[in-house]
Amino acid sequence: MSKIDVLRELGFTHMGNVLDAGCGKGEWSTALAVVDNVVIGIDTNQRNINIAEDQLLYSTYLYKCVKYYIVNMEDDITMLNALHDALANIDKFDAVFCYSAVYLTNWKKTLAAFKRVLEPGGTLYFTTNGIGWYLDNILHRKLHRFAWRANVMSPKATSHYLASIGFKDIRIEKDPYYDLKWHGLDYVFAVRATA
Ligand SMILES: C[S@@+](CC[C@H](N)C(=O)[O-])C[C@H]1O[C@@H](n2cnc3c(N)ncnc32)[C@H](O)[C@@H]1O
Repeated sequence: MSKIDVLRELGFTHMGNVLDAGCGKGEWSTALAVVDNVVIGIDTNQRNINIAEDQLLYSTYLYKCVKYYIVNMEDDITMLNALHDALANIDKFDAVFCYSAVYLTNWKKTLAAFKRVLEPGGTLYFTTNGIGWYLDNILHRKLHRFAWRANVMSPKATSHYLASIGFKDIRIEKDPYYDLKWHGLDYVFAVRATA
């Protein structure tokens, strides 16, 4: 399934102002813009942001709808500063999309920051690693470049924490983009919640 099809299936169309947290090279940011969102992509890696910005030069539509910033997703103030820089009259995000990045951060700090930058009623969607991913990495000593700094997030601990900081309608879902199992165990899982 293409990223655009996945976003349509997730209902991530016409959301308004969307934060793509840990946007990397901007692949999801551009897909989010194609399905009619205004996108603020943030990442701490300058090289990734440079590549993402280069892609915008090929389309006036994308150039208009997507802006990138070097921002740490654990820091709500700088995320909001980026939003104000891009859209002076907007105070908070309508949605946060975070694909395969939250586990690289202090995830509790990051999820609390997401709550603070979202409008009440705004949508949070993120994917993170399931138990299959960790076991596969440990047992096969894959230890690819992310594995050594991946923090463990169980579905239960994640939903418990989201509820404790005020998120509602918390749902653990399967990730339609990367629906892989390892010996029957999830490789990736997705979480959706309402601020
Ligand atoms: C596995 S990549 C995923 C990139 C993109 N979301 C995608 O799916 O193609 C993880 C990204 O998170 C970024 N990242 C890691 N820690 C971060 C942080 N604290 N704040 C913002 N971005 C971060 C990395 O630089 C990297 O680009």
